[in-house]
Amino acid sequence: MPRQTILLTGGAGFIGSHVGDRLRARGDRVVVLDDFNDYYDPAIKRANVAAHAGDPDYRIVEGDLSDPVTLARLPDEPFDAVIHLAARAGVRPSVADPALYARVNVTGTVMLLEWARTRGVRRFVMASSSSVYGKSAVVPFSEDDRADQPISPYAASKRATELHAAAFHHLYGTRVACLRFFTVFGPRQRPDLAIASFIRRIDRGEPIPVYGDGGTARDYTYVDDTLQGVLAALEWTAAPEPRFGCFNLGNCRTVTLSRMIETIEEALGRKAVRRVLPEQPGDVPITWADLTRARAALGYDPQVPFEEGIARQVAWYRDAGRP
Ligand SMILES: NC(=O)c1ccc[n+]([C@@H]2O[C@H](COP(=O)([O-])OP(=O)(O)OC[C@H]3O[C@@H](n4cnc5c(N)ncnc54)[C@H](O)[C@@H]3O)[C@@H](O)[C@H]2O)c1
Repeated sequence: MPRQTILLTGGAGFIGSHVGDRLRARGDRVVVLDDFNDYYDPAIKRANVAAHAGDPDYRIVEGDLSDPVTLARLPDEPFDAVIHLAARAGVRPSVADPALYARVNVTGTVMLLEWARTRGVRRFVMASSSSVYGKSAVVPFSEDDRADQPISPYAASKRATELHAAAFHHLYGTRVACLRFFTVFGPRQRPDLAIASFIRRIDRGEPIPVYGDGGTARDYTYVDDTLQGVLAALEWTAAPEPRFGCFNLGNCRTVTLSRMIETIEEALGRKAVRRVLPEQPGDVPITWADLTRARAALGYDPQVPFEEGIARQVAWYRDAGRP
C-alpha cells in the first residue's frame, strides 16, 4: 500500500497507541487526536506515545473530540482515512454517567463523521464493541443478529454510532467499517480492565473482586490480533465502491472468569485472594464472536491463544512496571 495519512482518534489509549506504532512502523503518517482525559492516569497515555516524540510524521492534537473547536484545529491537509477509537470505554462507569457517554461516543462520532464528509475523507474505520449484542442467548454472536437490546449506556452508545455511520454511508457513500472488538488484552491494557487489574492485585497480594460465581465468560482477543483486524479493515475501506460493514473481531473461544484468574495465577506463580461480590448491572454473562464474516471479508485470522497472551501481558507488566 502507498504511504497514507491517517487521523487516529484515541491514539494515546491502549488499542490506539498500538495502532499508531504499527502505522508508523510501516511508513504511514499519523495524526493522533486524543484529550488525555483522566478516566485513567493520563501519565499512562503519555507514556504510550512517548516513543514518537520529535517524529514529524507522528503529530498529536490534544483536545476533546466532541468540542467543535478541536476538530477545527486538525491540520489542513489531505487525510486518506480516519481510524476512530476515541471513546469513553468503561461499561460500569457508563451506568453512573450516561450523558457523558452519549456526548463523547455518539455526538463525538457524528461530529467526526461530519468532519470527514466536509473534508472529503471517505474512509472511516471505527471501534464498536461486542457489548452491542447485549444479553443475547444465541452464541456465538453473528453480525446478522439484531443487536437492539443493549444493557448499558456504553453498549447503547456504541450501537448508536454504528447506526449513524450507516446513515452517512447511505447519504454520502462513506466507506465504513465498524469493528466490534471483543475484550482486548495485552501490553498497555487499560488499568481498569479485569485482566490488568487482576495481574496488578494478585502480584501485590491484594484481594481481587470476583463478580458472580466465576461462570461468566468472555471471548478475549490479544491486541496483536485486534491490530491485524484494524489494518485489514483499513484496507477494506480503500475499495473504489461505497461499502459499509460491521465485523466481529474476537478470538472465537470463550474463557470463564474462573479460568481467566487461574491462568493469571499460573503466569504470575502466585495465588489470588478472591472477594466474591454480586454480579454487576450492565455486565453481560457471555461474549463469543462468530468470525465467519471477518475471516471472509478481511482475512482476519486470530493467532494468539489466551494462555500465550496472558504470559506475554505478565512479562510486559514485569518489564514495564505497570499493567
Ligand atoms: N479494550 C477493549 O477490550 C475494548 C472492547 C470493545 C471496544 N473497545 C473500544 O475500543 C476503543 C479503544 O479502547 P481502549 O481500550 O484502547 O480505551 P482507552 O481508554 O485506552 O483509549 C481511548 C482513548 O480515547 C481518548 N478519548 C476519550 N474520550 C475522548 C474525547 N472526548 N476526545 C478525544 N479523545 C478521547 C482517551 O484519552 C484514550 O486515550 C474504544 O472506542 C472502546 O470503546 C475496546
